[in-house]
Amino acid sequence: MRIYRSKRFLQAYLKRLPLENKVGFVPTMGALHDGHLSLVKNAKNSCNTVVASIFVNPTQFDRKEDLDQYPSTLEADLKALQKAGCDVVFIPTVKEMYQNQIVSEDFDFDGLDQVMEGAHRKGHFAGVGTIVKRLFEIVKPHEAFFGEKDFQQLQIIKKMVDKEQIPIKIIGNPIYREADGLAMSSRNVRLTPAQRKAAPFIYQTLLKAQKLFKLHDIEEVEGFVVQSFKAQKLLELEYFSMADETTLLPINKKEKNKKYRGFIAVFAGPVRLIDNIELNF
Ligand code: PAJ
Repeated sequence: MRIYRSKRFLQAYLKRLPLENKVGFVPTMGALHDGHLSLVKNAKNSCNTVVASIFVNPTQFDRKEDLDQYPSTLEADLKALQKAGCDVVFIPTVKEMYQNQIVSEDFDFDGLDQVMEGAHRKGHFAGVGTIVKRLFEIVKPHEAFFGEKDFQQLQIIKKMVDKEQIPIKIIGNPIYREADGLAMSSRNVRLTPAQRKAAPFIYQTLLKAQKLFKLHDIEEVEGFVVQSFKAQKLLELEYFSMADETTLLPINKKEKNKKYRGFIAVFAGPVRLIDNIELNF
């Protein structure tokens, strides 16, 4: 596995690959878990060369505390990437990606960034768009792999690629979970033992909401979720939104031919956890 810290050397290597060589790309912020590694394995299944990046992107953090506390486990990450079949790792510095201007570009995501994570984390998706676009320009992959864990991010990247006519196929991958249902996240290691024990309640509630959605009104499902969290001392519900998968706008009236999803954000102390689930009826 090759490791590059400089975009110039990485690009020089990628340029030497044969033209017919299919390149897959998995951008990450490190502190890797099996969810990340499932993206690498999927990429390896459909591409010849898999490039992963590890970069904790400062412009997408709205809370300094979250950026400062973001876990870093580089040595273990590199071992895990190699084992998962990754061919190339790009680990740039902040200077390499931003020079001396740590600011986001402006994007028009047709409103996809105005709801949920975008509404609760100011500037988050401008930061994500900025870094992913830069990484795409450097790596120039044929395919890029993103997790449905961050479903809104996945839709926003698809929108960016579409609008800016970037010739990269964006591939969504299912959410990888712990045995007790908690969605894997780099932030899970920050949970206290008691919070970690409480956290699977998030997915359990989503599963119940999924069942209720089949027969009940949207208001009833929402009421159920809000009420359920009131009884939880260690978990604080930030939002629960049932939305159209494409527009991400809250559902007004259930329509048969549409695809819906329930999205949730919860605080466990200072740690913010998100999850989502398909809703059908
Ligand atoms: P990060 O949170 O490190 O996630 C990297 C990729 O792994 C994302 O596509 C994310 O959706 C996916 N992922 C995380 N947890 C997952 C899980 N439990 N199951 C499946 N996929 C999972 O998302 C980012 O980094 C950043 O915003 C980034 C795109 C790298 C831009 O900085």
